[in-house]
Amino acid sequence: MKIITTIAEARDCVRASRRDGKRIGLVPTMGALHAGHGALIERAVAECDFVVVSLFVNPTQFAPTEDLARYPRTFEQDKAYCEKLGADVIFAPAAGEMYPQEQITWVTVEKLTDKLCGASRPGHFRGVTTVCAKLFNITTPDVAYFGQKDAQQAVVIRRMIADLNLPLEIRVCPIVREPDGLAMSSRNRYLSPDERQRAVCLHHALEHSRQRAAEGCRDAATLISEMQAIIENARGRIDYINIVDTETLESIARIGQPCLVALAVHIGSTRLIDNCILDLK
Ligand code: PAF
Repeated sequence: MKIITTIAEARDCVRASRRDGKRIGLVPTMGALHAGHGALIERAVAECDFVVVSLFVNPTQFAPTEDLARYPRTFEQDKAYCEKLGADVIFAPAAGEMYPQEQITWVTVEKLTDKLCGASRPGHFRGVTTVCAKLFNITTPDVAYFGQKDAQQAVVIRRMIADLNLPLEIRVCPIVREPDGLAMSSRNRYLSPDERQRAVCLHHALEHSRQRAAEGCRDAATLISEMQAIIENARGRIDYINIVDTETLESIARIGQPCLVALAVHIGSTRLIDNCILDLK
């Protein structure tokens, strides 16, 4: 497995693979890899001939008040994990390589980005779409792999690819959970032992909504307020809980077609997100 830190090397190496007729897979990550990323890499390795894992803590998707400085950086472990899973290349540029001058060109997806996480993290998705567009341009993947845990991100990237006619497909892979149900996240390592126990309330709230919908509850407001009670009981501070259309991300009042139940909750000072799809069929 090769470690590449410059855009020029990355371009050379994907160009060579493409010349050899290889199908290129990209797994974009910010490092601090866990089994959720592992599932994306495994799928990429199974479906592609040449797999690039990018490890880049993208500064433009963090607000000044957020955790850019303390975001976990675990390069040596990430390297060993990627190697074990069969990735061909790690692309780990420095911030100055990706942003050598003031970035004044941005990719912005409208409408989908002003709700859910976008409402409390203004500018976040502009940073995500811009860095993904850069990574797609640099590594020219046939397929890029994203996790369903960042459900809104997946919807936004899918729309960017469609609207800009970018020549790649995306695969969105299921959420990977700890044995007690907590969704895997690089930020879970911020949790104290007590917070770690309480953090499972996100999963419990989602499971409650699934069960209530299966029993026949169709009123989104009722489900949301019951989920709220579960989170508050675990002393979680709710950023949002919403039930939305899976494509437009508009709130829905009645559970009908498949819909996305999404939430963001602060446990202590750590903001966690999770979601599930309710499909009554
Ligand atoms: O999901 C992430 O880890 C990041 O948002 C991504 C897609 C790697 C862009 O920095």
